[in-house]
Amino acid sequence: MLGSPCLLWLLAVTFSLVPGTQSLAPQDLKEEDKDETPRPRPPLRAVPCDYDHCRHLQVPCKELQKAGPRACLCPGLSSPTQPPDPPRLGEVHVVAEDGSAVVHWCAPFSPVHQYWLLLWEGNEAPQKGPPLNSTVRRAEVKGLKSGGAYVVCVVAANGAGESSVPQAAGEGLEEVGGPPFGPCRRLAVPPRPLTLVHVAIGVGTVLALLSCSALVWHFCLRERWGCPRRRVASRPTAGL
Ligand SMILES: *[C@@H]1O[C@H](CO)[C@@H](O)[C@H](O)[C@H]1NC(C)=O
Repeated sequence: MLGSPCLLWLLAVTFSLVPGTQSLAPQDLKEEDKDETPRPRPPLRAVPCDYDHCRHLQVPCKELQKAGPRACLCPGLSSPTQPPDPPRLGEVHVVAEDGSAVVHWCAPFSPVHQYWLLLWEGNEAPQKGPPLNSTVRRAEVKGLKSGGAYVVCVVAANGAGESSVPQAAGEGLEEVGGPPFGPCRRLAVPPRPLTLVHVAIGVGTVLALLSCSALVWHFCLRERWGCPRRRVASRPTAGL
């Protein structure tokens, strides 16, 4: 009989996951429940809200709860009287041609009113981007120099303050290039493809000029000034 509560729970989970069978599940369970000692069971209909803290333009979970026809569960958040935890910076997609980068992040499990990006190059002072509302998880940074090395951070803020950022010149920056779990990331802009094309054309031109001068030297100057080896070789032919 030890297995039956587990089995019941499994059944309950299975039925609550299969749409359409929900009306059947509670009845079945009630009948079987009569043999069992009554015990508190998690409410069957409380499913997690369709909330993804990494999704761009994600409606806040509290609003999903209010709007939805069924009760749903939101992830727990830190206290609104504390500054938010740092968001987690995800993918950074650099577009070298435009000197821009698209930055994605995931919301912290904290109440957030707005986000903004910080961007700096080397030891320069961080540049603060425009404020972004709490649904935003993606932003573009522009005006990056080709071949530049930057650090980009995302900051979350609420009424109590803003999330922490590793100091630009301080100890945190060493971790910035490490595993992508923090709010910052190093961002290296590759040289523009156009620059590479120019370099290739330059090298090609130099090589072509060198080959041309080698050919010119070979066919004209050698003819004019003569070549000792060739003259030796040509004498017998001339003699014949
Ligand atoms: C938040 O910002 C995004 C992008 O600028 C915009 O599309 C969206 O409507 C804004 N949402 C709210 C609730 O202001």
